Amino acid sequence: MSKAGNNPWHRIGEPPYIAPSMLACDFMRVGEMAAEAVAGGAAVLHVDIMDGHFVPNLSMGPAFVESARAFTDCPLDVHIMVTDALHFAEKFAEAGADSVTFHVESDSDPNAVIDLLRGRGLGVGVTLRPGTPAAAVRPFLTLVDMVLVMTVEPGYGGQRFMEDQLPKIRQIRSWLDTDKRLQVDGGINAETIVACADAGADVFVTGNTVFRSGDIAGTVAALKAAARRT
Ligand code: DX5
Ligand code: ZN
Repeated sequence: MSKAGNNPWHRIGEPPYIAPSMLACDFMRVGEMAAEAVAGGAAVLHVDIMDGHFVPNLSMGPAFVESARAFTDCPLDVHIMVTDALHFAEKFAEAGADSVTFHVESDSDPNAVIDLLRGRGLGVGVTLRPGTPAAAVRPFLTLVDMVLVMTVEPGYGGQRFMEDQLPKIRQIRSWLDTDKRLQVDGGINAETIVACADAGADVFVTGNTVFRSGDIAGTVAALKAAARRT
């Protein structure tokens, strides 16, 4: 069992990493489906948290992460789409998250969120909405483990990939040290993963493509192979 507060990004082998989003699971079968994704080679499990305020939708809370933590050794990569990032970063750290990614557009001071997560030994990610310019995350690049470029408007799974985010991926990759991860999230499938990998992404969140495929493990393995081909 991996311990809470155990930064995953330097202990899970070499990228590319596939990060299946459990938001797309059938919640009556979520453990079984997550286990299939891990069997297929998922590096981390992505957990999408929505507060009904920062985004117009609700999803899971800390209790979900507590249960997932007890169920699997796979690191939990928690993406908090919330207004009060500082408050919820602490809640999800306590619940057993291994890494937390927060939005630069939240109401919290990014440096305070980073300090809190670092103080607890968690992985730290910063992310930005499609309409937010790359420059908004630039001051934090040396302080985080990962930048997440949203390739859909946050709030819902199953949306279409936004190709206009590819230049932002390239721009941020050019600024990032090679030991930092660059994640993409939204509309990732066998085609779009290749475009993102080519632009410099190395962590791929994918919900519907994996969990609605009928072959969860096989789809994770195929996506990983596709990301490696670039
Ligand atoms: C969107 C979430 C994504 C989403 C990805 O707000 O951050 O993680 O669940 O789902 P797909 O892969 O179905 O677009
Ligand atoms: Zn996400």
